[in-house]
Amino acid sequence: PLVTSKEMFKRAYEGQYAVGAFNVNNMEIIQGIVDAAKEEQAPLILQVSAGARKYAKHIYLVKLVEAALEDTGLPICLHLDHGEDFEICKSCIDGGFSSVMIDGSKLPFEENIALTKKVVDYAHEHGVVVEAELGRLAGVEDAIKVNTKDATYTDPDQAVEFVKRTGVDSLAIAIGTSHGAYKFKGECNLDFDRLETISKLLPDYPLVLHGASTVLPEFVGKCNDFGGQIKGAQGVPEDMLLRAGKLGVCKINIDTDLRLAMTASIREHFAKNPSDFDPRQYLKPARAAIKGMVQHKIHNVLNCSNRL
Ligand code: G3H
Ligand code: 13P
Ligand code: ZN
Repeated sequence: PLVTSKEMFKRAYEGQYAVGAFNVNNMEIIQGIVDAAKEEQAPLILQVSAGARKYAKHIYLVKLVEAALEDTGLPICLHLDHGEDFEICKSCIDGGFSSVMIDGSKLPFEENIALTKKVVDYAHEHGVVVEAELGRLAGVEDAIKVNTKDATYTDPDQAVEFVKRTGVDSLAIAIGTSHGAYKFKGECNLDFDRLETISKLLPDYPLVLHGASTVLPEFVGKCNDFGGQIKGAQGVPEDMLLRAGKLGVCKINIDTDLRLAMTASIREHFAKNPSDFDPRQYLKPARAAIKGMVQHKIHNVLNCSNRL
């Protein structure tokens, strides 16, 4: 059944692991992810960005997720990723999502609170949970264009006040991660002291980590080996994500690793089978690559196998 993330996060917090939130925009991606979760008996969040919703249309994504629920029998949470205003959140709440994110992170503190509170009030009336964001991630991903220099980490005291005044169900924090495949120039440095402080100030409260792909070298390498040009890509090391999962981070967002897994597989397929042109010939291995990558995440990053 479609579920909210409430119970998932409660159990993840207690068990010191994280639930994977995977971005979806087509059937093969959804199928690869849910097959992995089913095999691993793992809790699962499927999330849809505004861009994904525009690409595939709301109704197609909802119906595909409904099909996945019926096909697998898994409890799945369907979440709006980075909703930028009240209207898109309302549209997803009215349109069958069980969770929405209102991302007011680029707004001044008080405006972020007011907007988040408005979404929380509407969502809770409709049995839907809400994620908000405080602090700014660096990176350039579609609508999320934040100058690296402007990027400011989440202030712990503000986080407490924010949660108290909005009643928001989970909070995305900025501790040094960023969206996309090029997260760091040098080595990855996450502010674990800050995470620990926030987590201590907000006991039993689920935190969210965006920009949490590891940018698996295997897939970057494969892309480049078969004609791609993805240079200097770098993600968050697996051990850091495992550590975050023990410090109150209950949701880990993964999009870039899905893109890389799928593209690597398709590049390899065409390099080795240049005469193929039936989409099933290359989408079948691409779907399998996604499944394998998600199983790897469940074991090595999320630690959420057999947690249903
Ligand atoms: O956080 C952003 C996600 O990776 C979604 O990206 O807006 O290109 O769909 P998108
Ligand atoms: P990545 O780009 O690291 O996969 O992050 C995805 C994300 O945070 C979606 O909201
Ligand atoms: Zn994000």
